[in-house]
Amino acid sequence: MGIETASGRIHGCDLKACRDRPKCCAPIDQRLNHPRADTATLMDRIHRHSGDLQFVHDQPGRGKSDQNSLLCVDTHHHSAVFGKFSFPLLSGPEPLQCKAIQLQTGRQVVGTQLSWVDRGLTNQKSTARVTRLLTLPVRPTRRSMPHPYESGCDLNSPNRNLAPVTAELDDQGRLTVGGCALSELANRYGTPLYVLDEVSIRKACQAYREALTRHYPGPSLAIYASKANSSLALTALVASEGLGLDAVSAGELMTALDGGMPAERIVLHGNNKSIDELTLAYRNGVMVVADNQHDLDCLQKIVPEGGEPARLMLRFTPGIECHTHEYIRTGHLDSKFGFDPDQLEPVLRQLQGCSWARVEGLHAHIGSQIFELEPHRDLSAVMADALRLAIDLGHPVRDLNVGGGLGIRYVESDDPPSIDAWVKVVAEAVVAACKERGLELPRLLCEPGRSLVAPAGVTVYTVGSRKVVPGIRTYLSVDGGMSDNPRPITYQSLYTTCLADRPLAEAEETVTLAGKHCESGDVLLKDLAFPACGSGEILAIFATGAYNASMSSNYNRIPRPAAVLVHGGDAELVQRREQPEDLLRYDLMPERLRSVN
Ligand code: LLP
Repeated sequence: MGIETASGRIHGCDLKACRDRPKCCAPIDQRLNHPRADTATLMDRIHRHSGDLQFVHDQPGRGKSDQNSLLCVDTHHHSAVFGKFSFPLLSGPEPLQCKAIQLQTGRQVVGTQLSWVDRGLTNQKSTARVTRLLTLPVRPTRRSMPHPYESGCDLNSPNRNLAPVTAELDDQGRLTVGGCALSELANRYGTPLYVLDEVSIRKACQAYREALTRHYPGPSLAIYASKANSSLALTALVASEGLGLDAVSAGELMTALDGGMPAERIVLHGNNKSIDELTLAYRNGVMVVADNQHDLDCLQKIVPEGGEPARLMLRFTPGIECHTHEYIRTGHLDSKFGFDPDQLEPVLRQLQGCSWARVEGLHAHIGSQIFELEPHRDLSAVMADALRLAIDLGHPVRDLNVGGGLGIRYVESDDPPSIDAWVKVVAEAVVAACKERGLELPRLLCEPGRSLVAPAGVTVYTVGSRKVVPGIRTYLSVDGGMSDNPRPITYQSLYTTCLADRPLAEAEETVTLAGKHCESGDVLLKDLAFPACGSGEILAIFATGAYNASMSSNYNRIPRPAAVLVHGGDAELVQRREQPEDLLRYDLMPERLRSVN
């Protein structure tokens, strides 16, 4: 353990004092990790404290053991017990007075130094008084938050905020979103509940549209990647903001068409589209993003002799690596999506002059939750080369679709670029790449999903059971989990949370927020510094508007949550809560089994 203090001390114990006291010098890590010690909780409290601390015995009369369970008391506030601490730093029965000093590097607290006078009782033969110093490094526990609604709201780029842009406190100190107190929504609609803030979604749509107009001199269109969260209401919302929509299945496509998205602004994606999906797209005049030869073969069969040619966009893998979870990286060569770059020219030649298809665009997407801008800059050059090739081969290509991928802030330390910065980089790179190749500016398309809707979403849960595993962990269970948010278990994703009615409450303990599913990994947030809270309290998890509802499941036959859209103090149900009966709707009982019992 090596933490530097102002005085240059870089070790945990006062080495000089400990030299003749080998027992005391037992590795500090070992002591702190003593299995009986609830050190995580204690540490969080000590780290926010400067001043006097007192260690007293938890179990009087058992003070001789060097593995005592001790209580740590804040002597400023007399009765305030910080927590249990099993730590062999004294063996006498008297309270041990300690001073705690916070160690800082710049403004960051890196640890706490405890100093105390040891009466030497750890070694029965010695009674020498020595001053001991112990440095406790800050444990990498996650704080519940710097309060999300205060975290510097960037109205123009909701993806840079932890909470929806309308999040604020009401006069009772309760957290509200879209003018609605989350706890009231929980009462009215039950929990778990997906809450979607209309203003955040509109702001994000406007940010893309305005940035494209500002930075791109040619025509442009932002297309909502509806896999992030597909519903009639969201479709209508993004359509009303002038965006298009990307669908990847008949379900998403039908939702888009029924939700009022004009067909000419929809594209159909997918690496294994069915004949039915392709037919639905073709019949509605929806642009098909051809991912592979199979798509082309199917479409050729679908388009009738002399019929309107299918509108095509060709997707290829650009061979660009980016830093994100491997499951959500798509631009590298070893990807199931799109034509290999080497196949692009043969495919463009194959489609030359064919009557059943018209190649109107090119598409590439490099991945999701990306904070870097460089890969998108590189992508523009690769795509401009492809555009040059397609035009040279006589295709009427007018659309360049650079995909989505802009990341969002899930936790305080995330620092994604703004929507404007992302669009600027993409737009300027496309303009430069086209200029270099003597190309007219294509219509620039991008396909944001997460950055449009994730920041608008908050999931509201009710806290239920508590399980304390002494010295290891405290589990607080909520009434949802991996079925409504599979991202933590799938990608180890981090989130931010707070209590709905006490969002400012100070963290008092370290808890792990668990879901209610039969799976040990069903944990929403691990080792979180959180206020003490009891069963029945409502908590909110932020930034759940994307890839939560759309990836939800009925694992353990748990019905999917309802979703409400909030705006100006009103809440409207946009997705009914599934009922247990709904889950039985598709079950069939063979007659011969019915008679068994
Ligand atoms: N376009 C295409 C072709 C895509 O495959 C995707 C996302 C997008 C656009 C939108 O990307 P976004 O702007 O949302 O990053 N389930 C994962 C994310 C999977 C993304 C799949 N494709 C997650 O929860 O992180």
